[in-house]
Amino acid sequence: MSTYNVFFSPTGGTKKVADVVCNVINENHKNIDLSKNVDKIVLDENDVCVVSVPSFGGRVPALATENLKNITANGAKAILVCVYGNRVWDDTLSELQDVAESIGFVVVGGVVAVAEHSIFRQFATGRPDNQDVDELKQFAQQIKQKLDAGNFEKIVLPGSHGEYKVYNGSSFKPTANEECVECGICADNCPVNAISCDNVKECDVTKCISCMRCIIVCPVKARGLDEAVVNTVAQKMAPAFEGRKKNYLFL
Ligand SMILES: Cc1cc2nc3c(=O)[nH]c(=O)nc-3n(C[C@H](O)[C@H](O)[C@H](O)COP(=O)(O)O)c2cc1C
Ligand code: SF4
Ligand code: SF4
Repeated sequence: MSTYNVFFSPTGGTKKVADVVCNVINENHKNIDLSKNVDKIVLDENDVCVVSVPSFGGRVPALATENLKNITANGAKAILVCVYGNRVWDDTLSELQDVAESIGFVVVGGVVAVAEHSIFRQFATGRPDNQDVDELKQFAQQIKQKLDAGNFEKIVLPGSHGEYKVYNGSSFKPTANEECVECGICADNCPVNAISCDNVKECDVTKCISCMRCIIVCPVKARGLDEAVVNTVAQKMAPAFEGRKKNYLFL
């Protein structure tokens, strides 16, 4: 029996949550990063995967789905984790369940957790925090008990199954400024190769999925969004982000 921490986490918030959950299930897990090309993997029914994705517009990021489909689960058990930035996660968890089951997973539980918003960093700043970590550990203990009890009855996670919320992508596309030293780190780390290796200041906006990883990895903070535009949109959307949103466990 092997345990896998399978995650798509462009800016690290989802991975923080995934690590907390997966470490309780089994500290000796293997990592599978869905932002990179995933080799074909064949699991068996005794394997356990914690599969974690951020909510992008209330949906599973398409690249995460594409790479997940390289796994043949053969009845392996899945704990599904959806991470959202203090707005709402809509159909992310239900879509993740549908994808997981289509590749042969038996879904044992679902977790929804808050992490700092990777575009609007003023929302859910610093989350998951210590309070979240304690709660996520409790969730993971309950999931572990369910796994140990061998209770694998079909569950239905909340959200639409089939008719998902429409997400047409985000208009936020990071650009490089004059501080750029052309190191190429952003191009190497972009999950969809949207940044040209020959001209790192060029970004193919038709490929860019607005994941914000290039901003996080830039060593000289030369890549970013137009702050004025971000702040204007954030102000307009503020009511949707109000308050400390919750984490949830579904068993
Ligand atoms: C393109 C994009 C779309 C997002 N859409 C939502 C959303 O619909 N609801 C929400 O609460 N958070 C949303 N977020 C915030 C992320 O779900 C959240 O910040 C998550 O922690 C990002 O994962 P990461 O840190 O692993 O990259 C979005 C972030 C991005 C970049
Ligand atoms: S260019 Fe777009 S897709 Fe690539 S890392 Fe930056 S935000 Fe993500
Ligand atoms: S990581 Fe920063 S400095 Fe390096 S090429 Fe990209 S934008 Fe320029």
